[in-house]
Amino acid sequence: MAARSLLLIRGGCVVNDDSSQEADVLVEDGVVQAVGRHVLPPGDAPAGLRVLDAAGKLVLPGGIDTHTHMQFPFMGSRSVDDFHLGTKAALAGGTTMIMDFAIPHKGHSLIEAFDTWRSWADPKVCCDYSLHVAVTWWSDQVKEEMKILTQDKGVNSFKMFMAYKDVYMVRDEIGAIAQVHAENGDLVAEGAKKMLALGITGPEGHELSRPEAVEAEATLRAVTIASAVNCPLYVVHVMSKSAAKVVADARRDGKVVYGEPIAAGLGTDGTHHWDKEWLHAAHHVMGPPLRPDPSTPDFLMNLLANDDLTTTGSDNCTFNSCQKALGKDDFTKIPNGVNGVEDRMSIIWEKGVHSGKMDENRFVAVTSTNAAKIFNLYPRKGRIAVGSDADIVIWDPKATRTISAKTHHQAVNFNIFEGMVCHGVPVVTISRGKVAYEAGVFSVSAGDGKFIPRKPFAEYVYKRIKQRDQVSLGLQGLDCHVLLDVGAGIITY
Ligand code: URP
Ligand code: ZN
Ligand code: ZN
Ligand code: ZN
Repeated sequence: MAARSLLLIRGGCVVNDDSSQEADVLVEDGVVQAVGRHVLPPGDAPAGLRVLDAAGKLVLPGGIDTHTHMQFPFMGSRSVDDFHLGTKAALAGGTTMIMDFAIPHKGHSLIEAFDTWRSWADPKVCCDYSLHVAVTWWSDQVKEEMKILTQDKGVNSFKMFMAYKDVYMVRDEIGAIAQVHAENGDLVAEGAKKMLALGITGPEGHELSRPEAVEAEATLRAVTIASAVNCPLYVVHVMSKSAAKVVADARRDGKVVYGEPIAAGLGTDGTHHWDKEWLHAAHHVMGPPLRPDPSTPDFLMNLLANDDLTTTGSDNCTFNSCQKALGKDDFTKIPNGVNGVEDRMSIIWEKGVHSGKMDENRFVAVTSTNAAKIFNLYPRKGRIAVGSDADIVIWDPKATRTISAKTHHQAVNFNIFEGMVCHGVPVVTISRGKVAYEAGVFSVSAGDGKFIPRKPFAEYVYKRIKQRDQVSLGLQGLDCHVLLDVGAGIITY
């Protein structure tokens, strides 16, 4: 019989989204057994007990990164952070779960894509993970597969792209909200043609060809369609003030809509597209673009602090300089994507908590708990309480670290937050009850993380949706409603 694994985190301040308390945390075999004072009788030190001193530190639920693309085959390249290095880097930054995207090619099976991503991730992940699945085309087969994915495979979120014309983009007529991520793909394609015709071929052309209005228009369209068919909506990578305002207004109008800003959009801006060093500029290219208005990160952080925006991801999708160079003469060929999986927690602490915009409880809400609630992982994840998974970070709010590609744990050779000094340092990261990272040293192996299935109909989202379905007629005829019929927890754009 395997020996019990016992861990005691002593003397810290346990922070959940709704309260903070001075307490010890006792963990047994990966699960929290007790939270409070004197969780072990005086003098009782069971064999094999490991004690971690958390005096003067915060004890937080591990971060949940709602949006990553590890080893993603995209735009003629493959993102360089794979499920092994990417999840190690996540742990080093205090994130204990990532949610990645299985993305089928047009006309291909969603289930096949899901199985492919699992075959990539399962042997490699160092922390827990889950998968959203993208809907890149529409047919009765897709509809049937969505049903199977939600009922049997643990998927309760589907991403639809409103951009990437002719690649992933889905058109309005194939199923209500079933369109692509929140950018108007036709305008993106037209804008790119226009820039190239004007002779603008550099990275700055990327943002110029798809300005804020292109994102805001698509966001409003998605919100309008989703609400017309009483479908919960989750807008990924909200990058602009205009799109964030659309989400905030929709929430104030009572719509069941969630917005996810990402580390990049909260921590830096699109002025870098104009850097005189081409590679520096190209490393900031992602879609929707970082915005050149330098007040955007602050604006997004304020909305996040005040519950207009709800969760945070990183959209970690990293390409090395040689891959970015594919677009040397044409910005439309620069593989889109930036880093963030390692630095998301520190960026949000620095720009959100250290700046005074949010308290430590809101920090936990936006980095972990809200994601767990929306994607139906709560309270197993996103909370430190008896019975929860022991995914825990001992966080030093006073310590600082300087972000650099030279010292980060990611595979990519560039860091968009280079040189940034951040308060808030993860001292110890505990994954599934085991110390996985401590003071710069990893003790994890590939495959230590597990796939976490998610059930449909998360109460946090669906209590209101179901009640609205009962009391109003709804638009049952629209194809979009299939997403409710199959019990898809939420639709992500
Ligand atoms: O530029 C980005 N965001 N790359 C990843 C793909 C996506 O649209 O999320
Ligand atoms: Zn996207
Ligand atoms: Zn720069
Ligand atoms: Zn993405």
